[in-house]
Amino acid sequence: MTTKLLNGNQLAKEIRKEISIKIEKNILNKKKRIPHLGIILTGTNHSSITYVKNKIKECKNIGMQSSLVHLPVGSLEKKLLEEINKMNKNPLIDGFIVQFPLEKHINQDKIILSINPKKDVDGFHPENFGKMALDIKAFFPATALAILTMLERNKIKIYGKHTVVIGRSRIVGRPISILMSKKSDIGNSTVTLTHSNTPNIEYYTKLADIIIVAVGIPGFLKGKMIKKGSIIIDVGINSINNEKKIQGDVDFQSVYGKASYLTPVPGGIGPMTRVMLLKNTLIAALNRIEK
Ligand code: GUN
Repeated sequence: MTTKLLNGNQLAKEIRKEISIKIEKNILNKKKRIPHLGIILTGTNHSSITYVKNKIKECKNIGMQSSLVHLPVGSLEKKLLEEINKMNKNPLIDGFIVQFPLEKHINQDKIILSINPKKDVDGFHPENFGKMALDIKAFFPATALAILTMLERNKIKIYGKHTVVIGRSRIVGRPISILMSKKSDIGNSTVTLTHSNTPNIEYYTKLADIIIVAVGIPGFLKGKMIKKGSIIIDVGINSINNEKKIQGDVDFQSVYGKASYLTPVPGGIGPMTRVMLLKNTLIAALNRIEK
């Protein structure tokens, strides 16, 4: 069977253009200011440093402003809370993120709860997460938005399809399982959420029309685990060879030729996720201006 690769680089380029036009039309011309994303990074996690660098580069390319606060390894939770409070109060910052994972001595829940929900462009604060679950307008997590947009723009129908999500993380698995089942045009899928304690995952994946894999295990989803013609979304970004190469959660060799659609790694969901963070930041800026 022919597998169509879903090109995230190309689609991200189109969406970048759309955001740039909106920035010029809505903000630059009328209010003489551009959206401003704040980023708080802690420690020396190589992947996090690369992700943050890419997010800053994206802002520059699109004509958005960004400000980075980088706290050294071992910084106290109190110091991080102070920096969050500064971002919450800074009128020049439209939205901001705290890059995860955090060091073990920092309480992640406390950090998420301290972010002003109106500036929470990651959509991780319970106010945004709860609104998402209740179908109320809110910031949705960027990776989940990236997946929905990838499906929508490629005209892949999800209505009535059976989606199996592998992984229940706060960042990907849980939000996408909520959004795929949402009662709306982009939704109405029947969702099964599987995870590390699901026995015989193959039983579920073989029944799936759409599989979203976000487990962080390179090559986890094999061709023999899927139904012919299924749609495979690979959210994995696993570092191989000392961070030099990345590999997805899908075993590309065995899935290619059996799936109908597949997102490659790199060049699939990754670039789309970065662009969705910018889209949320633009919305945060517009929300403040329209107030
Ligand atoms: N770490 C991995 N993905 C993400 C993300 O989407 N947002 C933040 N803040 N940290 C992450």
